[in-house]
Amino acid sequence: MRFRTAIADGHLKAGDRVPSVRALSSELNLARGTIEAAYQLLMNEGYLIGRGAAGTIVSPLIKSAPVAPKITPLPSSAVSLVHSGESPWPFQMGLPALEAFPRKLWNRIASYELRHSLLDGLIYPDARGHDSLRTAVAGYLGISRGISCTPGQVFIVAGYRAGLDLICRSLLKPGDRCWVEDPGYFAAHNFLREAGATLVPVPVDADGMIVEAGVRLAPDARFSVVTPTHQSPLCVALAMPRRQELLEWACRQESWIIEDDYDSEYRYHGRPLPALKSLDGQDRVLYCGTFSKVLMPSLRLAYVVVPEKLVQRFTEIADKMHSHCPSLLQLTTARFIEEGHFGRHLKKMRSLYAHRRQLLVDALLAKFAGRLSIDHQAGGMHLLARLEKGMDDNLISNNAKRAGLAVQALSRWYLSADPEHGLLLGFTNVTDSKQATELAERLARAFPD
Ligand SMILES: Cc1ncc(COP(=O)(O)O)c(C=O)c1O
Repeated sequence: MRFRTAIADGHLKAGDRVPSVRALSSELNLARGTIEAAYQLLMNEGYLIGRGAAGTIVSPLIKSAPVAPKITPLPSSAVSLVHSGESPWPFQMGLPALEAFPRKLWNRIASYELRHSLLDGLIYPDARGHDSLRTAVAGYLGISRGISCTPGQVFIVAGYRAGLDLICRSLLKPGDRCWVEDPGYFAAHNFLREAGATLVPVPVDADGMIVEAGVRLAPDARFSVVTPTHQSPLCVALAMPRRQELLEWACRQESWIIEDDYDSEYRYHGRPLPALKSLDGQDRVLYCGTFSKVLMPSLRLAYVVVPEKLVQRFTEIADKMHSHCPSLLQLTTARFIEEGHFGRHLKKMRSLYAHRRQLLVDALLAKFAGRLSIDHQAGGMHLLARLEKGMDDNLISNNAKRAGLAVQALSRWYLSADPEHGLLLGFTNVTDSKQATELAERLARAFPD
């Protein structure tokens, strides 16, 4: 029956070899006699021809049906996904330069790990992350971010939101108040809200989150979520006095600061800023980093550094969550760091992004003259182009999206009712000045006349 259908559907054609009686009986777990009888029947009906030692084939006289493509497309999701796996569009935020990823080198290290990691790469992974990656991350953070921690304090997670999940399950009680930056990273806001937190939007100015406003609005909040190096999405840095104020508040209240240091590696001028965690003498900061921006987001590898006194609690929760990260990817990433490739890759990307950012700034200034003003921030992976008064960033972003540009409206990143208007433009995948000019022209067509 199976063969008749395959022949009728065109999947088996005249002259194709069918499996031997022995192979098929073992595949289907049926007696050889049963298979022999079925083959005999198909031969009698003219479907198959026996060729002795050369095997059994579909009769050359059979007319094959053309193979009809039977792939039914997946229904498009009714849910709006933060990431749907679609190919990125120009201006997409938060993506590294995809064509610049060192695939060959990565492949060499990945195959080395597959060959040499023995059982380690194949067994169930450690829920806290693989020792090698926890050690490599602790070493990297010590040198690059001024954070002193042991590998035991590092938890490897499948992305920033998985890190938030681990933190919330370990520490959050329903209704706990949580300061969030306004404007701020909407995916984190949504996650925290769904996890049971009560969000307290705290305004942001040129010096980052206005800590004093947070203290006024919710002095007893249990958490404060901040992006101190490059505020998301304004890219401003949290000024030193505010860092101190925030740490002092957290100590006083015994509250927790969640530091999201997602793209701190990309600073193009000025001195590199140490992480807030590096000033955390009282252990109030839960530090989150990710490999999404510095390697690739498809890796789904990120980390949370937790104070020593929370290690046991986080270990128990990580074990219960059972959302381990694949060992071979962790081992590959660890070796990539240990052998010095990571440092070299970052250096290369920093100068590539500085160049690409300038390409886009030049093209926008040439096209828009006084109609856009660009915030000159020290770092980040996107530009913020502010609009003239009275212009609606949503209208422009919607027009741009219809034209295939992933431009985001700044106003949509606000929780409060009186947002500022601007356009957020990822520049990391703008490869040359011709492309930058062409993108600026396409963007200009999204503006109302
Ligand atoms: C503000 C912010 N934090 C963290 C992340 C990292 O997320 P993930 O580790 O899930 O890729 C992103 C990614 O876009 C981000 O924009």
